[in-house]
Amino acid sequence: MNAVSGPMSNRNGFSETSSGSVPDRGTSGASRAEDRIIAANVDFYRQMAGKYDSYETYLFDPILQQSLEDDLDKIGSYFVSLGRAPSCLECGGGTGNLTLKMCARGWTVTVVDVSDEMLALLKEKTRAKGYSPTLIRSPIERFLETTRESFDLVAFSAVLHHLHSYTAIVEQATSRVRPGGLFYSNHDPVVPERPAWTWAFDSLDIAVAKLMFDPADVLPGIGRRLRKMISTRDPSLGRRVVSAGDIAEYHVRAGVDDQQIVRLLQGKGFAIVEHVRYATGRSSAIRFLNERLRLLESFKIIARRDSGQM
Ligand SMILES: C[S@@+](CC[C@H](N)C(=O)[O-])C[C@H]1O[C@@H](n2cnc3c(N)ncnc32)[C@H](O)[C@@H]1O
Repeated sequence: MNAVSGPMSNRNGFSETSSGSVPDRGTSGASRAEDRIIAANVDFYRQMAGKYDSYETYLFDPILQQSLEDDLDKIGSYFVSLGRAPSCLECGGGTGNLTLKMCARGWTVTVVDVSDEMLALLKEKTRAKGYSPTLIRSPIERFLETTRESFDLVAFSAVLHHLHSYTAIVEQATSRVRPGGLFYSNHDPVVPERPAWTWAFDSLDIAVAKLMFDPADVLPGIGRRLRKMISTRDPSLGRRVVSAGDIAEYHVRAGVDDQQIVRLLQGKGFAIVEHVRYATGRSSAIRFLNERLRLLESFKIIARRDSGQM
């Protein structure tokens, strides 16, 4: 297991960095917005954790699951020459979509996540399988600021769009990757080329998914939409906010700039092993349609740090 600087144990038995609780750090606009987004994620996943595994399609879609396995196989091929288990940091590991696959390969895994409830579910699953990853409840922002540890792999799955300043986090993450190690990120939406069409298609996608996977939330969801239409914009976040979900997935509508991340990684001495965009959809019918329309796309990046003398 990896030792993490200064952990304490919380009531669920996770390590917790000293700033693991919802932070309050000064009064600048950016740090206030970041704190609100972190707090919204805590709140959102407190409500979502119980149904997360049956709602997010990429967690049970066989094609997307196989694609994750293939990515980890590709990443693992770079670790063969290590002659030991690679050490991996997973940022925002949630209920273990990626964690369990890494543990199954015998990799040494540290998971940092802000949600007690998501980590509790992950802990149950890992215990049942006899795995023992290190679980740390903390905003990844605070963890990366304080840790001195480095890893063979730093991974994100469906997390960058939840972060206030994803480029700053990617930059910090690169400094925690050992020479020859890898950066991996997957399941974040790209910046839409036709925002109005993307928004309309996304609304259809959500409506279909709600009906299929979360019918109990259809009426409350319509209520939230109506309340949002008559609410005023929150000036500091530049949007209407009626529930934690409106802030938690902070960049879900504007998208995550994958080209900017690629440039950032290259500037930090990483070679891009793979960068692809793919059509998404919460149900197979919508994904089938979207394969043709390409209105909703996500991206993945695998990048390798120069193994040269640094
Ligand atoms: C969409 S889920 C993805 C979970 C998992 N990686 C997967 O592939 O299913 C996003 C996760 O990121 C966590 N998260 C959101 N903001 C975070 C932050 N600032 N620091 C750490 N974890 C965060 C949430 O608690 C949640 O577990």
